Amino acid sequence: MTQEVLILPGDGIGPEITAEAVKVLEALQQKENLDITMTHDLVGGAAYDAHGVPLAEETLEKAKQSDAILLGAVGGYQWESLDISVRPEKGLLALRSNLELFANLRPAYLFPQLADASTLKPEVVAGLDILIVRELTGGIYFGQPRGIRTLDNGERQGYNTYVYSESEIKRIAHVAFDAAMKRNKKLCSVDKANVLEVTEMWREIVDEVAKEYPEVEVQHMYVDNAAMQLVLNPKQFDVMVTGNMFGDILSDEASMLTGSIGMLASASLDANNKGMYEPSHGSAPDIAGKNIANPLATILSAAMMLRYSLNREDLALKIEAAVSHVLDQGLRTGDIWSEGLTKVSTSEMGDAVVAAL
Ligand code: NAD
Ligand code: IPM
Ligand code: MN
Repeated sequence: MTQEVLILPGDGIGPEITAEAVKVLEALQQKENLDITMTHDLVGGAAYDAHGVPLAEETLEKAKQSDAILLGAVGGYQWESLDISVRPEKGLLALRSNLELFANLRPAYLFPQLADASTLKPEVVAGLDILIVRELTGGIYFGQPRGIRTLDNGERQGYNTYVYSESEIKRIAHVAFDAAMKRNKKLCSVDKANVLEVTEMWREIVDEVAKEYPEVEVQHMYVDNAAMQLVLNPKQFDVMVTGNMFGDILSDEASMLTGSIGMLASASLDANNKGMYEPSHGSAPDIAGKNIANPLATILSAAMMLRYSLNREDLALKIEAAVSHVLDQGLRTGDIWSEGLTKVSTSEMGDAVVAAL
C-alpha cells in the first residue's frame, strides 16, 4: 500500500537540505520500487509569512494523516522579534506535541572516515556509537505555568516550569531500555537529581523500569558531569536517556564527536512508531542560500524514516551504505572538509549519494 510522506522543508537551509533527501527518496522510488507519495507543505517562518501562523491547521491535519513526516529546520533572524506564540520554533513544537512524538532518537554515530573531522582527537572518537534518547513533549519546554510577569516592585520576572509526570518518565525509559536491549545493553540516565526534585523522581522511576530489564547495566549521571564525560571519554556511553532540555544540549555536544552537527540525524516517534524525521541542527541562517550546508543529517534522517515508520530497513541500510561510500570517495561539504579531500556543495553531495545508491 502506498505510504504518505509529508515534506516540510521549513526555513534557512531547510529547503536546500530537504531537497537532497527528497532526491534520494525519489531515486529509491525509481530503483527500488519504494511505494510512497510525497506532499510538500510549509512550516515555521515560511508558514508564518504565508498564513500568519507557524503551523496552519490544515498542515497539522495533513501531518496527522500521513505515515511519516520529513522536516528540514525552522527559524531565522527575521522572525526573532515576533511574539513567542507565533515564532517558527512554535510550529515545530506544536507538531511534536500534537502528534505526541515523545521519543526523540539522536544517534551520534561516527562514520570511521570522519574520525579526523571531529575537533576531538581521532583516538577519542574512533568507533563512537551513542544513541541519545531525548524526551520530547514534556519537561521545561511544555511545563505550565510559564511566561513573563510584572512583580509588585515593577520589575519583570520570567518563569518556566520543569515538570514530568510518572507516566511520561516511564514511557521514555521503556524506549531507552528497549533500545539498549538491541545494542550494547548499557544505559546512562542523565539528570540533575542533586538539585531538582523532578529529576530526583526521574531517577527513581528509571530504577523501577530497570527491574524489567535485568540484562541492562544502568548508570545515573548528573548532567554537568555527563557534558564533561562526553568530551573526556565518549565511548563509555551506549544509550543515554534524558529530559527535553538536557537532551537538546547534550545532543548538539555529541554531534561534534561525529565530525559536525551536519551529520546528526533524528527520529521523533509516538507510541506506535509513527514519526517525524529531521536533522538535529537548526536552519543555519548564517549559511542559508549558499548551497554549502551538509545535507547528510537530513538524508540519514530519511533513512531513519524508512527504518522506523515505513518498514523498509533494507532501504535504510542502502542509504547508510551510500553515505559511507560517498565519504570513502573523499567528498565533503565544508563543515567536514579538510586538506586533501574534495569539497562539494549541498546539491553535489546529494547527487553523489544518489549515484552511490
Ligand atoms: P543551527 O544548528 O542552525 O546552527 C549552528 C551552527 O551550525 C551554525 O554555524 C550553522 O552554520 C552550523 N550548521 C548547522 N547545520 C549545518 C549543516 N547542515 N551544515 C553545515 N553547518 C551547519 O543553530 P542556531 O544558529 O542556534 O539556530 C538557528 C535557527 O535555527 C534558530 O532560529 C533556531 O531556533 C533554529 N533551530 C531549529 C531547529 C530545528 O528546526 N529542529 C534546531 C535547532 C535550531
Ligand atoms: C532541536 C531544536 C529545537 C528544540 C528548537 C528549534 C525548538 O533546537 O530540535 O534540537 O529545542 O528542540
Ligand atoms: Mn537543538
